[in-house]
Formats: sequence, C-alpha cells, structure tokens
Amino acid sequence: MTNNHDSVDIDDGSVKVAPINRLRGNLCLPGDKSVSHRAAMIASIAYGESVLENFSTAQDCAATLDCLRALGVRVEQDGSTVTVLGTGASGLQKPAQILNAQNSGTTMRLLSGILAGQPFETTITGDDSLRSRPMLRVAEPLRLMGSEVELESNGCAPLRIKGRRPLRAVEYQLRIASAQIKSTVLFAGLAADGITTVEEPAPTRDHTERLLSEFGAPIQRNGKKISVRGGVELGSRKLLVPGDISSAAFFIAAAVSLPGSDLVIRDVGLNPTRTAFLSTLRTMGADIVVSDERLEGGEPVGSLRIRSDKLKESRSLEISGAEVSNLIDELPLLGFLAASLGCEMNLRDAGELRVKESDRIAATVANLARMGACAEERPDGWHVKGAAALHGAALSAFGDHRIAMGCAVAALSAQGSSQIEGAANSVAVSLPEFWSLLESVAE
Ligand code: S3P
Repeated sequence: MTNNHDSVDIDDGSVKVAPINRLRGNLCLPGDKSVSHRAAMIASIAYGESVLENFSTAQDCAATLDCLRALGVRVEQDGSTVTVLGTGASGLQKPAQILNAQNSGTTMRLLSGILAGQPFETTITGDDSLRSRPMLRVAEPLRLMGSEVELESNGCAPLRIKGRRPLRAVEYQLRIASAQIKSTVLFAGLAADGITTVEEPAPTRDHTERLLSEFGAPIQRNGKKISVRGGVELGSRKLLVPGDISSAAFFIAAAVSLPGSDLVIRDVGLNPTRTAFLSTLRTMGADIVVSDERLEGGEPVGSLRIRSDKLKESRSLEISGAEVSNLIDELPLLGFLAASLGCEMNLRDAGELRVKESDRIAATVANLARMGACAEERPDGWHVKGAAALHGAALSAFGDHRIAMGCAVAALSAQGSSQIEGAANSVAVSLPEFWSLLESVAE
C-alpha cells in the first residue's frame, strides 16, 4: 500500500516519515483502550443490555470482545457502538476453545480475574510478545483467593485457570504499581465471599474503580486501599467512552515539537490518573489549554488546544518513583520528545518498561541512538542528553505500537526522512487510524 502524502509513505510493513512544518486542525480520537476493555468486561458480567459508544478501535479491544463472545456473551458492534448483552454474575459459559488475548496484556490479566471466579476451567494464551510477559503477578493473588492457576515454567502464558465460586476475599498488597494487577484482584473480588481489598504502592489509573461504581458495585477507596464487596449483581449501563488520551499524546507531542502548530483535540479523557503527561509537558513550557470539561460515564472529559509558539527553553526532565506509574505508557514518547527538543531526560524506577509489548527501554534508546541522540540505557530507565537536531534514520517499531508512533513523532521534526520498519500495521494494536489522522493535521 502506498499513499500520496508528502510526510507519510506506507509501503508493505514499513513507513517512511518525512519531516513536516507543523500540525494544525482538529482531531477526535477513538475511545480509550483501558476504559473500553473494562466496560466490555464489566458489562458482560452485569445483567442486561449495555451500550458502549465510541468504543476503542484498537485490535487489543477487539481481542477482548472475541474472548467475551467465546465465553457465551452476545456482543454486537455497529460502527463504534458496542452492545453487550450481560449474562449476570454466573452467566458465562465454558469456552469451546482456548481464549486468545493476542497482543493484549490488559485482556489477559483482567479477564483472568473474572475467569478465576467461574466454575469451569479456561486456558488463555496470546501472541509471541504476550507469551513472553510476566503473568505470575496475577496468578499469585488469584491462587490466594482459591482458584487454581497454572503457568508455563517461565511464569508466562498460556494460563490455565480452574475457577471457583465463591472465591476467598483477601487483603492484597501489590508489590508493583500496576492498574492491571489491581483490576484483576478487584474483578476476582466481585466473585468473593466478602470484602476484597487491594493496596497499591503508588496511585495507578482508576478506570476499574470508576466503572465498577457506574455499574453498581459497592466499591470504596480509602487512601491507598480499594475495597469491593463480592456477590452483588451489577446492572447494565449506557456509556460514552472518552477519546484515548494515550493516543492523543502522540499528536500532542508532535504539536509541541513543531513550532507554529495549533491543534485541537476534542472529547478526550482527562482522568487525573492519566494526565501526568500533560502536566509534564507544561513543566517543559508547553501551552496546553483545557476547555469544555465535564463528566461522561464517571470519567472526566474535555477538549485540549495545543500551541507550540510559546514553548520556552526546555529544562531537563527528571522522572522517578511514584511519578512513573501514571506516565507509564507515555515514557517512550517523552524520551523521543526530549531528544527532539534537545532536552536532557533522566528516567529511573521504570524497569516495568522492559516487560511491555517490547523492551521499551532498549527500543527507545536504540532508535534515539540511530537518530544521533546521546542516549544510554539504565536497568530501570535511561539518560538522554540534549543534543543538536536529530537526523532521519532507519528505525524499528520492534513490533510495538507505542514505539512505532514514538519514532514517527521524532521523525516529523528530524532532519531528513526516516524509515520505520514494522510500523505500518503495529499501530493497529491501539490506534489503527494513526497514519491517516496524522496526515489530516500535518502541514
Ligand atoms: C493498563 C495498565 C498499564 C498500561 C497498559 C494499560 C490498564 O499496565 O501500561 O497499557 O489498562 O490497566 P500495567 O498495569 O502493567 O502497568
């Protein structure tokens, strides 16, 4: 496939990205991936028909819908509207086949929490990348709650889950700040015989808590602890999923790095556990104005206007500790942006990046080095040193959607064109429309 635009040329799997002047115009993004996964899963175990509008177009969320169908749930899709006929707490059926979460860690981990409370055995697997990611982190609490969970000897999928109902309610302290593990335990807690409490070491995205509350689950937060009472029948809902802020982040970063840009992104999710990227950019001098703020389905939503004219001299960026979890998906992008702006970046305490869809520390640093940046890996992060402008280069997506889009953002402001191997289709994992949306605002 080849298109005619000056800046993006897609040929087979690889994409050639030429520098552009700026981004201008309006964007509206497909629904948030994290919210879409959760809404579909909760709607499936709630009772009655739930309508989820602006559902994510990500392949990851399609994998969730396919798994739910395989569990006997009626799921229909009409454009971006997904209708789920929830079967209630005990309505799921033993699937005829192995469930396939494909590339989606959220599908595998969160669904495991639901499967642990079902009175049947299920196996869930994924693609090569997902089958190399750690799953003991969800097996451990689910075993404590009374389900049997078998993994491969390396602690990875496939997971064989022999569920039980009711599960044992537990108090579980997370060792890793992870919204996925927190959500797995809370979902299992819905099928437990009392109150299940999860304590998180640092705040992580709270969509599960907000959505469970929307669907009528008794859920409470007390400091670092979140508790849910099991055995309650959830009701159906009609929800509008907010635009995905993590997808918006790529366009925001591109606008910030290209002087003269003026970009409006409408109806995007502004949940405070997801907006650390915006505050980080503001500390770097970015001009980002929020308007039309409101709540949709329990989630803050609004519009953003990003202008780059006022970008001040960027200072060095230090990210570590509790800041990491709410920036987790945007860290590679921040690395690419810092290097593009000639800004120094020190990242620590982000070892989790090594077990994402790719080793995102190695992938970010390797691509930056190819573009001429002075970038060094650390076991738990990186050091990027402000340098003169990046140059176009032969880059690689490393099979990872966020690395593909991060490379594209850096390539837009580099000197000369870049060729990003494997980028064409990998973006579909979270944003199949990435290249066309980029073309629509590139000048
Ligand atoms: C997600 C949580 C994060 C994030 C992932 C989506 C979620 O993973 O990286 O893209 O929807 O809960 P961890 O919980 O592993 O940090």
